[in-house]
Amino acid sequence: MSTLVLGIESSCDETGVALVRTREGQVPELLAHALHTQIAMHADYGGVVPELASRDHIRRVLPLINQVLEEAGQTQGAIDVVAYTRGPGLAGALLVGAGVACALGAALGRPVLGVHHLEGHLLSPFLSADPPEFPFVALLVSGGHTQLMQVEGVGRYTLLGETIDDAAGEAFDKSAKLLGLGYPGGPALARLAEFGDATAYTLPRPLLHSGDLDFSFAGLKTAVLTQARRFEGSPCEQQRADLAASTQAAIVEVLVKKSLKALAATGLKRLVVAGGVGANQALREQLDGACAQRGVRVHYPELHLCTDNGAMIALAAAMRIQSGAATPRTDYGFDVKPRWPLEALATA
Ligand code: KG4
Ligand code: ZN
Repeated sequence: MSTLVLGIESSCDETGVALVRTREGQVPELLAHALHTQIAMHADYGGVVPELASRDHIRRVLPLINQVLEEAGQTQGAIDVVAYTRGPGLAGALLVGAGVACALGAALGRPVLGVHHLEGHLLSPFLSADPPEFPFVALLVSGGHTQLMQVEGVGRYTLLGETIDDAAGEAFDKSAKLLGLGYPGGPALARLAEFGDATAYTLPRPLLHSGDLDFSFAGLKTAVLTQARRFEGSPCEQQRADLAASTQAAIVEVLVKKSLKALAATGLKRLVVAGGVGANQALREQLDGACAQRGVRVHYPELHLCTDNGAMIALAAAMRIQSGAATPRTDYGFDVKPRWPLEALATA
């Protein structure tokens, strides 16, 4: 028996829609997905403007649903379950996806399922050409979260450590801003870093030797600011590139060392990296090198599925249903959870 799941993502600045098909005993298959990114719209403001984000989701979501159905050669009537991001994220933005999903479900007489955004990221490598197997350690590195989780199966997540202040993506974004780079800063900083010397500036690696699996990135932006101020007048291109490379090296070193610590502490031999920062090539190279030496397999989402998208939401819903971890609802009442720890999923 197969189930067709429509997934809608609208938690921040990307409207994502996707169709996934599940078949018993198989990893769900991605039939089609479409994305509209609001990056250009928010760029003028140097960050996401929540009200503008919500309004744009409203404009984009229905055309994207039609596009995905057409690409997959499916009709609305063929949809078995409508999934949406229930949280965490911007409340107004989440409400758009949740409202459309529940209205569509009610109109079609099909059940709906609210999905945890981070569970979407965490499971997204299952759509890659090299899908992982449970159990594994997950390094979740996005714009809002930096967490190490022990993952035993769908919905069975134990938090091992997390950031006590800024997320890794935030550290990239804030440092990029100090270097005069645009929004979102992560990819821009990574591009500039390619031309720089990562050893040029000594930047802090907070909590590197703390003995636990927590992270702290707030001090890094202060150090970057202090260094940037030392440049006389405006920095030359090489100084900016060197500072970008040094910043990236500091973030990546902490992420790699703490991931290795989590693997050693759990005895697991598999690491899954997910979330926007998972697209960072320096992080991938260093994790691959360090894990290969230790006989650890590393899995990533496909590059285009590292940042927010609808495919991971349809996938997470499909896997929750398949594993019996969740049952879609037909009451069509909905709420959203702007703040929602992943470990609380079991009790949601
Ligand atoms: O997962 P995501 O799309 O959204 C959240 O759920 O937060 O992650 C976005 C974050 C941003 O902070 C962005 O700067 C960062 O991921 N990011 C990167 C790269 N691509 C995206 N950071 C470093 N290097 C990249 N290549
Ligand atoms: Zn995300």
